[in-house]
Amino acid sequence: MKARTVLDDAVKVLKASPAIDHWQRGRERIEAEDLLWHVLGEEPDPRDDVTVEQRRAFDRLVARRATGEPIPFIKGSTEFRGLELLVRPGVFVPRDASEFLAEQAMRRLRGRARPVHLDLATGAGTIALAVANEVRGADVVGTDLSADAVKLARTNAKRLGVRARFFTGDLFGGLPRTLEGTVDVVTLHPPYVPMHELVDLPEEIREWEPEHTLTDRSPDGLGLISRSAREAPAWLSPNGWLLLEVSPDRVRHVKGVLRGEGYRDIRSTKGGPVPLTRVIVARRPR
Ligand SMILES: C[S@@+](CC[C@H](N)C(=O)[O-])C[C@H]1O[C@@H](n2cnc3c(N)ncnc32)[C@H](O)[C@@H]1O
Repeated sequence: MKARTVLDDAVKVLKASPAIDHWQRGRERIEAEDLLWHVLGEEPDPRDDVTVEQRRAFDRLVARRATGEPIPFIKGSTEFRGLELLVRPGVFVPRDASEFLAEQAMRRLRGRARPVHLDLATGAGTIALAVANEVRGADVVGTDLSADAVKLARTNAKRLGVRARFFTGDLFGGLPRTLEGTVDVVTLHPPYVPMHELVDLPEEIREWEPEHTLTDRSPDGLGLISRSAREAPAWLSPNGWLLLEVSPDRVRHVKGVLRGEGYRDIRSTKGGPVPLTRVIVARRPR
């Protein structure tokens, strides 16, 4: 059977699935190709022949996707700035949109003699590992409340041969005190969904991402952000930056929090491969 037929059949199955959040037209074909690539071990060419075993294996993966299971969990990994990161249920799946946060951090770290980066709420090690991979000589530290996330981040670092240290703790809680006053850039992609808005998220996200990765259970989604704004100055170097990734509707509120804490040069930026989110940058208060 030709790959074209196999892919066409899969697209029909995916389009008909009520469990998939069909927010982007044409996404089903990309997903089908991605899964077939995973089975074949190489990029599928529609003219290629697919064996019966390959078709069976592919159909099994398509059936899993049709139940709403996210592609990264089916494949066991996802790509982030060219790094293949292992993913695991229970730990937030890195999103393409966060590549912009990593980029903004790198811009502010490059050119420093001994750049120090701290990635709060690091999840699978996402931003920390991208920075460690791309900024020469950077001292990179990641931390997360979830021991499972930290375990996965360490596994990812080892597997990729990237140097970064990971700690478990509540925000800055698990960090070595020697880092105080030395960090050039703190990044944070926090759980920022207000508690009452959780129900509005696509089912796929609600079903598969643990609640603590989506919300800090505060009514305005600003709980962790406010704490990080209060606590970061003690860890930042005199001209260090705090970088926060949030949804566009949170920008005004987050800027208000940062102004209230005396941060300087507060700006919101958007960009990257999927400009769905905003990165707010702010310099340490004097
Ligand atoms: C939206 S996910 C972001 C993960 C990662 N930075 C990324 O972009 O892929 C939010 C992360 O915050 C972590 N988290 C939640 N509450 C926390 C806290 N109080 N202190 C540290 N991390 C926390 C969660 O475990 C989760 O990994």
